[in-house]
Amino acid sequence: MNRRAVRFYDEQPAPATMLEEVLQGLAARPRRIAPKFFYDERGSRLFDAICELPEYYPTRTEMGILESAASEMARLAGPDATLIELGSGASRKIRLLLEAMRPRRYLGIDISREFLRQSVERLAGDYSWLEVHAACADFMQDFELPAAAGEGKKLAFFPGSTIGNFEPHEAASFLQRVRRLIQPDGALLIGVDLKKDPAILNAAYNDSAGLTAQFNLNLLARLRDELGAEVDPRGFRHRAFYNAGRGRVEMHLVSRRAQDIRLGGQRFHFAPGDGIHTENSYKYSVDEFHALARGAGLRPRQAWLDDARLFSVHYLSVNTRSAPRVA
Ligand code: AVJ
Repeated sequence: MNRRAVRFYDEQPAPATMLEEVLQGLAARPRRIAPKFFYDERGSRLFDAICELPEYYPTRTEMGILESAASEMARLAGPDATLIELGSGASRKIRLLLEAMRPRRYLGIDISREFLRQSVERLAGDYSWLEVHAACADFMQDFELPAAAGEGKKLAFFPGSTIGNFEPHEAASFLQRVRRLIQPDGALLIGVDLKKDPAILNAAYNDSAGLTAQFNLNLLARLRDELGAEVDPRGFRHRAFYNAGRGRVEMHLVSRRAQDIRLGGQRFHFAPGDGIHTENSYKYSVDEFHALARGAGLRPRQAWLDDARLFSVHYLSVNTRSAPRVA
């Protein structure tokens, strides 16, 4: 096999201080734990299984959109763009794009070093024509692209409606940051879950196999196993619902009884029904998302929806008119 070496850039993101963040969140009102903590190994496996569930439409719907529109997306991006994946390179989605676009260069960016290394090595093995770069970095923070991968037009890819985990104002500053990464002539291809019948949303986050419940409750198992917390996950139940006023699905862990969680020398008391807010998953109409993108200096060029209008994929380009390039 004619495999080229992967160029690996380690930006050494500050290790997440999970204990401190969790302590802060449990002391806050409402109590909260950030959704990024769902994804330990077990959580990541549960999420993969969720993506296969009949009720969880986003993954297969986005995949279907990419399948039918990949060549159009490739045409918009042009022949010589560097494809930059924000998040892991393990998915079938990026392969679809790589095969349709055949870009010269790929850059995978992820905060999880080993996961990133493995997935880009696989890509380099499977696509010998591709120049593969990887940067271990937290793209939620400000960071610079490695110079070698920074030449020429850039197409950033952010699938899965991960942007829905941000508060809208955070989503706006995230889009601004991406805009800076891809300027002056780049584009962003981003998957965004749509507003829809709440019954569909409620089913997607309350699956009958109970995997989403396990995924949510896995947070408490992590506190117990990794942080040494005294907590019984069975003392809590999964709760998820669409909050129409806020345009988001919320997930909570709700205490079944009066109990304490002990963590880091502190005691957190829960009355029956007290909750921990663990995730927001914002849903946007096409118009709402366009407004968000424009506010961040990105110009909506194309939106692809499935026939049932469950999910959207947007192609946004840098709006050089609203924010002129500095010489
Ligand atoms: C990965 C954030 C897009 O919000 O639908 C799936 C995570 N949570 N089921 C989502 C999730 C519960 C997912 N995102």
